[in-house]
Amino acid sequence: MSLKNYMKINKKIVMNDFSRDYKKNKKEINIGIKRVLESGWYLLGQELKLFELELSNYLNVKYCVGLANGTEAITLALIAIGIKPGDEVITTNMSAYPTITGIERTGAKAVLVDIDENTGLMDISKIEVKINKNTKAIVPVHLYGQACNMDEIIKIAKNHNLKIMEDCAQSIGAKYKNKTTGTFGNAGSLSFYPTKNLGAYGDAGAVITNDEDVYKKLLKLRNYGQSIRYYHEEWGINSRLDEIQAAILRAKLKKLDENIEKRRKIAHFYNTHLKTVKYIIENKDCLSTYHLYVIKSKHRDELQAYLSEYNISTLIHYPVPLNMQKAFKFQKEDKFPNTFKFANEILSIPIYPELALNEVRLVVKVINQFKPKN
Ligand SMILES: Cc1ncc(COP(=O)(O)O)c(C=O)c1O
Repeated sequence: MSLKNYMKINKKIVMNDFSRDYKKNKKEINIGIKRVLESGWYLLGQELKLFELELSNYLNVKYCVGLANGTEAITLALIAIGIKPGDEVITTNMSAYPTITGIERTGAKAVLVDIDENTGLMDISKIEVKINKNTKAIVPVHLYGQACNMDEIIKIAKNHNLKIMEDCAQSIGAKYKNKTTGTFGNAGSLSFYPTKNLGAYGDAGAVITNDEDVYKKLLKLRNYGQSIRYYHEEWGINSRLDEIQAAILRAKLKKLDENIEKRRKIAHFYNTHLKTVKYIIENKDCLSTYHLYVIKSKHRDELQAYLSEYNISTLIHYPVPLNMQKAFKFQKEDKFPNTFKFANEILSIPIYPELALNEVRLVVKVINQFKPKN
């Protein structure tokens, strides 16, 4: 297929097409929004209560607290489990930058470890050397919809008396040994940013926990530290998940399992048909929800440019190891060989539930025809 012919026949294949999702769920979403508008109650109302209940049932966890976004979910979850300024929190060098923002906003210091070269997840064998008297928590990031090896992380946390707060922004519904991510440690943070597997039509997030004290603390933290109106018992911020987003999320939650299944089918198709590139394999004992489908190539930049010529969108999650971000002031000299190699080779290709089979086939066909020039 010549490029000219290809361009004549095919439309752009994008990373996400939210209008397709809306079309599919239009009726229920519109009903939900109308219900909120007509209720005259827009914050901390019935929709949020029901969403929190429905989500905790879905994830099989005792408590869920809706918040304004996934970054504040990290901060408030860490504060709720006892992290204080000056503490150290160990996390991965390959994540979205908000993992760092969320940790640093507590006043704690984020300490990074290298990743496993096959999965892109934190290399658990590198955690213990970073533990010192200031270390208080581990923040595993279940990147790309995978799940970290939680048995090992729990073992280390127990041995060193550390808390665990799982960053599940990309992993809602993902499982490790058949148990949902976010339910292994003291708390788990979620993001409902529109691209996420459960995406709002704006910003939203949540924390899940089985600990009643953490739950009660979060209710105050998200609402200026008050539990009774105008009586502020402790420090808190405004981090509320509004009623319209809650109604939208309630409608979309009903389709989450079906959507995860569709993502897994697309991933399976890619796994079996991509011939010229490597791809991230599902971590052992993990059921991935394929928030992202990540391939690897030594000729990544050339491949990305080539796909762009064929109108196929791609992104890099993430091009810069966190310690090399200008905003991050520490560990500039530390060696992270796997993270650096990974960041140079990874490329995320389109995957979302409404992506049509003919589009998936086309992506495969174009990638399989790629011949690097050097
Ligand atoms: C791994 C990870 N952590 C945290 C966040 C922050 O979530 P939000 O964008 O909702 O603040 C994101 C989303 O971008 C993420 O991918």
